[in-house]
Amino acid sequence: MKATIRLTNSDIVYILDQTKLPFKEQYIIAKGSKRIIDAIEKLSIRGAPAIGVAGGFASYLALKESKNSNLEKIFQIISSKLDLIESARPTAVNLSWSVNRFRNILKLNRSKKIDFRHLLSLFRKEALKIYEEEKKVSLKLSSLGSKLIKNNDKIITHCNTGSLATTGPGTALGAIKFANKIRKGLRVFATETRPLLQGSRLTIWECQKNNIDCTLISDSMVSHIIKEEKINMIVVGADRIASNGDTANKIGTYQLAIAAKFHKIPFFVVAPISTFDFSCRNGLLIEIEERDGKELLSINNKIVSKANNVRNPAFDVTPRKLITGIITEKGIIYSPNANKIKRFKNRYS
Ligand code: MRU
Repeated sequence: MKATIRLTNSDIVYILDQTKLPFKEQYIIAKGSKRIIDAIEKLSIRGAPAIGVAGGFASYLALKESKNSNLEKIFQIISSKLDLIESARPTAVNLSWSVNRFRNILKLNRSKKIDFRHLLSLFRKEALKIYEEEKKVSLKLSSLGSKLIKNNDKIITHCNTGSLATTGPGTALGAIKFANKIRKGLRVFATETRPLLQGSRLTIWECQKNNIDCTLISDSMVSHIIKEEKINMIVVGADRIASNGDTANKIGTYQLAIAAKFHKIPFFVVAPISTFDFSCRNGLLIEIEERDGKELLSINNKIVSKANNVRNPAFDVTPRKLITGIITEKGIIYSPNANKIKRFKNRYS
């Protein structure tokens, strides 16, 4: 499959415009940081790891645009541009994790008499490193997650967590893709994921491209389908995992976890370590992005409601107690809690 995002040798960023999928495979050609920020805000590029990578490319281009004879001035301009990039989407921690890596480069070099070209080359290297790291991590996660899936399993997944959302095979959907190669009779049920339909537009598209037996269901069908189809497990991604294991993910994930608990089936989160926010004590402290209500009033830009009052939180938080395990590139944290995550952090991050 074509890369969801890439940086060319001539510093152009190609972004597969996810708002146009599945009907058009069209690339945004971004020559500056502003265009990338716009793509992140509009969800042309989306999914926590992919947003982190996009933030890296935006940080590099932002520095390139800040060229000035006075180095101190450059540090000031780039610092405020990094703040701007970070605020494009508040919930997915991968974006601030990525931007912080550039802040660290600035911090390490501020007192030194570094010349602009050297600083720029450090930013470029870092942006490409984030891209490569996310790819490797995605492969590891997918391989590890696939081992939990058995022949003939029926799995529900939510939103889109595949190649479109990462620079590798994905997280939750990556695990499903790997399992589909080694297991027989796998069936996937993909939730539609209102309001922006990442499930029906993107997950179904990726499943079809990967020859995965996939059935579309609406978000409201989940409990019924778990019971009727005897679903074996639910596998989702994450946008921010607090240090006690509470997990923010696409709106609708919380109700899936409750339904899984009621029906006594496992509920797994698949996410890279870059999605953990070790500074966040619990899920109550996670900022939830509230998006324009127009997204709910319309489907594919066609107005379908006359509602005057609309709420449109883009994410919700699943309490750790509903999570069977968090599958990371370094292993699985079963029944996550603050102590286990602290030990995990000390060992791996
Ligand atoms: O608003 P989105 O489409 O960016 O939300 C994406 C999700 O919630 C994904 O499940 C999450 O980022 C994990 S992607 C590997």
